[in-house]
Amino acid sequence: MGSRIGMVVSRGLPCVLLLLACCWLCEAGAGLAPALYVLGDSQADAGTNNHLVTVLRADHPHNGVDYPGCKATGRFSNGKNFVDFLAEHLKLPSSPPPYLSICNAPSSNSIYLTGVNFASGGAGVSNQTNQGQCISFDHQIDHHFSKVNASLVQQLGQAQASAHLSRSIFAVAIGGNDILNYVRPSLVNQVLSPCPPTQSPDEFVASLALSLQDQLQRLYKLGMRRMFIIGAAPLGCCPVLRGKEECDALANYMSSQYNIKVASLLRDMSDKYPDMLYSLFDPSIAMLDYFQRPEANGYSVVDAACCGLGGEKNAMFSCTPASSLCNNRTNHVFWDFVHPTEITAQKLTAVAFHGSAPFVTPRNVGQLCDTAM
Ligand SMILES: *[C@@H]1O[C@H](CO)[C@@H](O)[C@H](O)[C@H]1NC(C)=O
Ligand SMILES: *[C@@H]1O[C@H](CO)[C@@H](O)[C@H](O)[C@H]1NC(C)=O
Ligand SMILES: *[C@@H]1O[C@H](CO)[C@@H](O)[C@H](O)[C@H]1NC(C)=O
Repeated sequence: MGSRIGMVVSRGLPCVLLLLACCWLCEAGAGLAPALYVLGDSQADAGTNNHLVTVLRADHPHNGVDYPGCKATGRFSNGKNFVDFLAEHLKLPSSPPPYLSICNAPSSNSIYLTGVNFASGGAGVSNQTNQGQCISFDHQIDHHFSKVNASLVQQLGQAQASAHLSRSIFAVAIGGNDILNYVRPSLVNQVLSPCPPTQSPDEFVASLALSLQDQLQRLYKLGMRRMFIIGAAPLGCCPVLRGKEECDALANYMSSQYNIKVASLLRDMSDKYPDMLYSLFDPSIAMLDYFQRPEANGYSVVDAACCGLGGEKNAMFSCTPASSLCNNRTNHVFWDFVHPTEITAQKLTAVAFHGSAPFVTPRNVGQLCDTAM
């Protein structure tokens, strides 16, 4: 009996040693940040909305047609989204799983240590944007992330949890839906609040910036110290808002005003909180170049949806199994009525990670990881 145990132990030992060596190696060659926490909207959603009763879901074909295993995971894309590419750049073992897919799992506590994705398609800065159809940004912060924070504190103790969070990257992508719904109220919002907006475009953007400031401060208070934040894309050039040729001028104006306001509130925030570092990526500078010089950027279709239905730009309806699918997904800027293709997300993430001003300021995401605090 004793010798059998001995044999098992001695046979087991090399494996244990191998495992220890591997752990050490993994530690040594680990990611550029211990974890990635993601908050925001459908650009970043990795399947949150699969867990909701909502029309804003993407867990059906043709979404995912280029994802490993040809799987519709809930990402609003033909393949990977920007968070997946960000996780690769950060050398993390995987893209963070949706909070709602793991929060009841027995291993959730250990998963929280490497990152979680809270993003929900349809979410906006305002909690009235697509209300009831998504997890609002407020809820992502005050209910979901704060629970993860509490769990980290419980696991690691206050000091270690704070240290862990201060080295982690927080990716925030929010604001586009508020502007889209202002310019062209979604069916959801038309039903919920059928009145036209009472604020002027400038007042509306100013009120978004004010709310965002408060939301980012709450994230700071919950431990966020390294934030990668993505400004609004030139939304007027999305297939859904394009006319025959022209981009929607009001949507583009509001997007650029939003980005100016976000830049200014981040400057204020970093004056107020010197131990907070950020990287602000403005996707509009790169995307406007794609629109103006398609061939130089490897595109041939910059205005129409690859997967969609109806209208001038194949974008009257979202991507469903009944949609027409373009035959070349790598020469389209847009996947559906508003979301980028995998190739576009990949290109933009590379710029955010390695690029410089005016694309990404005051530092790129690579530098956001490297900068000591
Ligand atoms: C929605 O946002 C408003 C304004 O920012 C805030 O006062 C309110 O508490 C929020 N509601 C929820 C449920 O988060
Ligand atoms: C969240 O984290 C912050 C900073 O690490 C800490 O001060 C706070 O107590 C935590 N909140 C909860 C609810 O655990
Ligand atoms: C698809 O488009 C890309 C980029 O323009 C091009 O390199 C590739 O050859 C095209 N593929 C096919 C099958 O036409």
